Amino acid sequence: MEWFEKTKEGNSASYEADSPEKVLLLYSGGLDTSVLLKFIQEGYDAELFTLTVDLGQSINLEKIRAKALALGAKKAFVADAKKEFAEQHISKAVKANALYQGKYPLSTAIGRPLIAKLAVEIAKKEGIDTIAHGCTGKGNDQVRIEAGIISLAPKMKILAPVRDWNMARNKELEYAKAKGIPVAETKAKPYSTDENMWGKSSECGALEDTFTEPPENVFGFCTLPEKAPDKPEIVEIGFAEGIPVSLNGKELPLQELVMELNGIAGKHGVGIIDHMEDRVVGLKSREVYECPAATVIIEAHKDLEKMASTVHENQFKEIVDQKWAYLVYQGLWFDPLMDSLNAFIEAQNKKVCGAVKVKLYKGHALVVGRKSPFALYDKSLATYDIGHTFNQKASSGFIELWSLQSKMAMQLKKVK
Ligand code: ARG
Repeated sequence: MEWFEKTKEGNSASYEADSPEKVLLLYSGGLDTSVLLKFIQEGYDAELFTLTVDLGQSINLEKIRAKALALGAKKAFVADAKKEFAEQHISKAVKANALYQGKYPLSTAIGRPLIAKLAVEIAKKEGIDTIAHGCTGKGNDQVRIEAGIISLAPKMKILAPVRDWNMARNKELEYAKAKGIPVAETKAKPYSTDENMWGKSSECGALEDTFTEPPENVFGFCTLPEKAPDKPEIVEIGFAEGIPVSLNGKELPLQELVMELNGIAGKHGVGIIDHMEDRVVGLKSREVYECPAATVIIEAHKDLEKMASTVHENQFKEIVDQKWAYLVYQGLWFDPLMDSLNAFIEAQNKKVCGAVKVKLYKGHALVVGRKSPFALYDKSLATYDIGHTFNQKASSGFIELWSLQSKMAMQLKKVK
């Protein structure tokens, strides 16, 4: 191959394709995957099919389909998976208060298993033997996509040319020019990004200097807090069994609610996350996310869940939630442990019903009110006013027993 040089080091995995016949390429329409579209047809002499999945990112499916066909794809599949993404993936993330390392709402991570699943379905239906993707060898997405495919279709072969042929951007641009592949942006793209309705991620370029504030041109979903409106705005989110079902009193399908809330919260600068992330492949990387709706919804969900659950449930749920986020980040969406965690999380969420008010103001999302028919809060117990129903006399006896062992241990220490 005159254009790219195959990576020499390392072992090949058993599922890697060396002579694919029919290839389904996960196609975004961007430079990397457009280069792959041609490269796979030429380099491997394979028939090429593409799949583009709409998870609520700003794309034009018809344009992408036309581009794929113009570049020689036998068939260009497009899937509007917004509803499935919201109902099967975002809803689980909400119920699990999913934040990897306490910060990242897993926007990219929860989308990959769905893309893998749809790819496997089409490949099986069309008699395709190989699925190709445009991930590099340094990121998490290769892990998520390949682990998903391997789990669902162990016989499927996988092709990862950007990783295995060391494709660099400048070479790709030259190749695109030589092969007549239209490239939308001629200027070097300053960041590597990924986007769906649960959030946008940006990495590389100026962001690699971890001590420098992200430049304003990173942001697409969120207004900078200092440029956000001076007037706060309160949104009310209604929940039924852990799932957001209404926004400011209006019932909406989850995907519509999320997209509408992205606009409202993003305008107030809510959902900007800048953190040091531990990747699956060992690298530490500085990631910048914009997840306005995810930030507001998770904050609201956590609050309502806490109101309806006992202290023991709340403590244990935190452990389960953390494990859920870890497994999903690591690409193990299809591991059976996920089913078990989901069953517990589902059961806990049965009582997460009610409404939460969140104030949005210059980058902050503050819960300022909540109510639930399952609240374990009782005003007549908690009130400091006269007429409360709490038995204060019981407290002294309780404290005597509660502190018994601590008291004994302290006395032993003093004797020595
Ligand atoms: N670091 C994030 C994650 O692992 C975002 C990855 C974004 N992917 C991309 N191709 N830019 O989920």
